[in-house]
Amino acid sequence: MTAAPERFDIIVVGSGIAGLYAALQAHEHGARVLVVTKGGIEEAGTRYAQGGIAAAVGPGDSPEAHLRDTIEAGAGLVDEDAARILVTEAAARIADLVRYGVHFDATNGEVSLGMEAAHSAARILHAGGDATGLMIELSLSSLAQREGVTILEHTMAERILTAGGRATGVEVLDTRTGRLREYASDRVVLATGGAGRMYRTTTNPEISTGDGVELAYTGGAEVMDLEFTQFHPTVLRIPGVPVFLISEAVRGEGAQLFNVRGERFMPKYDPRAELAPRDIVARATVAEMLATGSDHVLLDITDRDRAWLTARFPQIFGTCLEHGLDMSRDRIPVSPGAHYSMGGVRTNTWGETTVPGLFAVGEVACTGVHGANRLASNSLLETVVFARRTVARLFEGLGADAPPLAPTLEAHSLPVRPALSSPGDPSSTDLRELMWTHVGIERDGPGLAYAAAVLGGWAHRLPAAVDRPTRELRSLLVCARLASEAALLREESRGAHYRRDFPEPREEWRRHLVFRADAPPIEVKNLSAVAAPAPVAAR
Ligand code: FAD
Ligand code: SIN
Repeated sequence: MTAAPERFDIIVVGSGIAGLYAALQAHEHGARVLVVTKGGIEEAGTRYAQGGIAAAVGPGDSPEAHLRDTIEAGAGLVDEDAARILVTEAAARIADLVRYGVHFDATNGEVSLGMEAAHSAARILHAGGDATGLMIELSLSSLAQREGVTILEHTMAERILTAGGRATGVEVLDTRTGRLREYASDRVVLATGGAGRMYRTTTNPEISTGDGVELAYTGGAEVMDLEFTQFHPTVLRIPGVPVFLISEAVRGEGAQLFNVRGERFMPKYDPRAELAPRDIVARATVAEMLATGSDHVLLDITDRDRAWLTARFPQIFGTCLEHGLDMSRDRIPVSPGAHYSMGGVRTNTWGETTVPGLFAVGEVACTGVHGANRLASNSLLETVVFARRTVARLFEGLGADAPPLAPTLEAHSLPVRPALSSPGDPSSTDLRELMWTHVGIERDGPGLAYAAAVLGGWAHRLPAAVDRPTRELRSLLVCARLASEAALLREESRGAHYRRDFPEPREEWRRHLVFRADAPPIEVKNLSAVAAPAPVAAR
């Protein structure tokens, strides 16, 4: 007879800011907490965050102004109630982070506030200059360990266990031994981060393979807004050099963008120039790269001196210098990369998904605060605001009168598409290239139809998911299918989703696309007519 799985009061999947913050909050309530994380405890998207965390705490700023900016950036799809919670609970959550050991940068005793695109005020708190994420990750992970929270590293959640339609625990894979194991809890919190690794060029680390979306979708929960991936315009572009973000905060401090002919280009695209919303800057960058036949544009902050730059942007300055660029003298070659998943597991403002007992917090969740385009530095904030509410709901009974999140009537499921004889078997390299080419910064119907057909065909040929790489390939494929099918359905342009064949927003599309595995499948037309279109746009 096999022993019953070990039981915890709460199981948290992931050890980025969302998971560790939720775990620490639950631990403060005396809960028996288990954190499982597929790499080392500090391996998370969080550690790479540079610019900082947004909160309207500066003089002359207000949560109302922050709310307006968030709604404006989100291009008609922001859930206003959720966004209001985000901005009003921000200051209290920053105080929690300080209590958990995060030291935000200050000047003369006042917190230093940076500026980023589409914010109407300087409201970005940062730590270690441009090392905000690293400082947060190290503070929370060392505190969680000191507090004795049970953390299982190299332990990958591989399936949500359910009984009678509610989550009852997780099945995990020990990635070093290959052993499967089950843990039981009535409260399972997904905090698995984003899915940027769907794309060839991404700022996201290797862990960002969209596992939480796949786990939730397969486990019966709803996922939403998967067609909205944010592309960051300024990723260091030097042949052979690994992808490295050049923070938007650099533009916030006055950096300008030039094409390789030496022409400053952003003012002709948007009056906010370099501080226009990210989708606008990313598309303008691609247009300039195409117009000049180059694979990059140039970011210039040479009007700042070396001492200032090394103090404000120590990581970025150091990385550029390692590759022969002195930011105080040289322009930095940059091009866009996939950066942030606006979509994810649909939740209410208490972290609840449509499966009772299953919760989602952080980048894996879709609370609706980002709409079609996230305002810079709102994501670290979202993680803590909604992780706090999730734990408060579970252990303090807050929000107990809120109705459960109801399933969406007009949800879809992924269609069964035929296996194709070409183009071969799925691999993460091919998937990332396909997504970059056809489901990238700019899309169109033929490219999306092709990508959806190839990805749907690959679904028949997935290798058995036996280890971390094959498991991650399964997650990437589900996320890529959801993103391409949703982008194909959404015949308009809005926020980060830009269709060359439908370049304007359309009022009838001011709505979310929701997927749920037991909903009716999308109707697929012209199955045999899909051919590979010529590759277009971004390189
Ligand atoms: P993550 O920090 O990505 O953590 C996810 C965790 O889940 C990891 O520990 C991972 O190993 C684990 N995991 C995943 N799948 C599984 C599984 N199957 N089983 C077990 N564990 C699993 N946002 C801002 O607001 N401001 C910024 O300045 C900023 N800069 C950024 C810079 C970069 C380069 C990047 C990549 C992102 C940036 N972002 C920024 C976005 C922000 O960092 C993320 O949205 C946020 O950190 C996500 O936190 P998270 O805890 O939800 O996920
Ligand atoms: C950056 O520092 O440019 C990233 C900020 C963010 O993604 O919010």
